[in-house]
Amino acid sequence: MAYLNVEGAIKRYGATTALNGVSFSVAKGEFFTLLGPSGCGKTTLLRSIAGFSQLSEGRVALDGADLLAVPPHKRDIGMVFQDYAIFPHLTVAENVAFGLKARKVATSVIRDRVAEALATVRLSALSERLPAALSGGQQQRIGIARAMVVKPRLLLMDEPLSNLDAKLRLDLRDEIRDIQRTIGIAAIYVTHDQEEALAISDRICVMDGGSIEQIGTPQQIYGQPATRFVASFVGTMNLLSPEAFGLPAVPGVAQWALRPERLRLAEAGATEHGASGFSGLVEHFTYLGREAHLTVKAQGHRLVAQIAAPPPDLAIEAGREIRLSFDRADLHAFDAAGRRVRTGLAA
Ligand SMILES: Nc1ncnc2c1ncn2[C@@H]1O[C@H](COP(=O)(O)OP(=O)(O)OP(=O)(O)O)[C@@H](O)[C@H]1O
Ligand SMILES: [Mg+2]
Repeated sequence: MAYLNVEGAIKRYGATTALNGVSFSVAKGEFFTLLGPSGCGKTTLLRSIAGFSQLSEGRVALDGADLLAVPPHKRDIGMVFQDYAIFPHLTVAENVAFGLKARKVATSVIRDRVAEALATVRLSALSERLPAALSGGQQQRIGIARAMVVKPRLLLMDEPLSNLDAKLRLDLRDEIRDIQRTIGIAAIYVTHDQEEALAISDRICVMDGGSIEQIGTPQQIYGQPATRFVASFVGTMNLLSPEAFGLPAVPGVAQWALRPERLRLAEAGATEHGASGFSGLVEHFTYLGREAHLTVKAQGHRLVAQIAAPPPDLAIEAGREIRLSFDRADLHAFDAAGRRVRTGLAA
């Protein structure tokens, strides 16, 4: 059942259309991610739901009630920002208590709720510290505790991890997901990091230029990209011309596409049934331990291949000719407008 409903959201800034008719729903307890390149309208959409920005057209309903009629401070929505936005002169506990004090909640209730929120984000031991004496990850957890402490009906997070180093991002990403599941809140999470989106989301909404390209589970978004944009934005995709590598010309197919991990090193001359094989010249070879990456030039294409669990002695010099093969069932197909096409070759 839809909990949050956004319908026909349009936002214009003068001549710029930041949102161009966006519609989607989020279920109760769902982790929903907005993913897209810089400027595609993610923050605009989040701010419109929170009420910091007014839509030019469209409707937003939460739990069946029109949200746009409710002033921002009464929407019961928690928001976590990219740049922490915490008060440096207040302790951790005082930062978390801030929203409750502003709402004139009783002191004893504030004490309990702050303790509970700090325990959830594992900051209880640091409650009397000032933010300057905390790591970036700990500061960001203050932001999450502060958004949660008011027991919002919806949690919005705008690139909360983008200021953190890679290791911390991974840890905190898992923590955010655990916290969201524990409290069972509907969350909308914004990122332009596709791997983060795949890892953290129940469903991902891929946006480009103010419009939705596709909404789906991580598996659908990666495995059955609805458009060429989604295919190339989420992960890497090799785009092949319609008759490349001996592929049959299928009416309506303007481009075939293949993930790098679907290409494999093949023995000379041996191509299995249902597979296509071809020779190419190695441009780059990168050995990464658990995988190896190859860039290969073949028949006017430059292809990326990813070899999982390479033999420990695998080393391929640039300029060498190698043979690669792939299963035709692993191909994706797109029409001239970049939309996914179903074919007998590619499901
Ligand atoms: N206050 C504003 N006035 C004019 N144009 C704006 C304003 N805010 C955003 N825009 C424009 O609207 C578009 C969408 O911006 P938005 O901030 O929503 O993108 P985003 O997807 O969050 O990007 P990023 O990943 O860089 O944060 C951009 O073209 C931006 O320049
Ligand atoms: Mg943004």
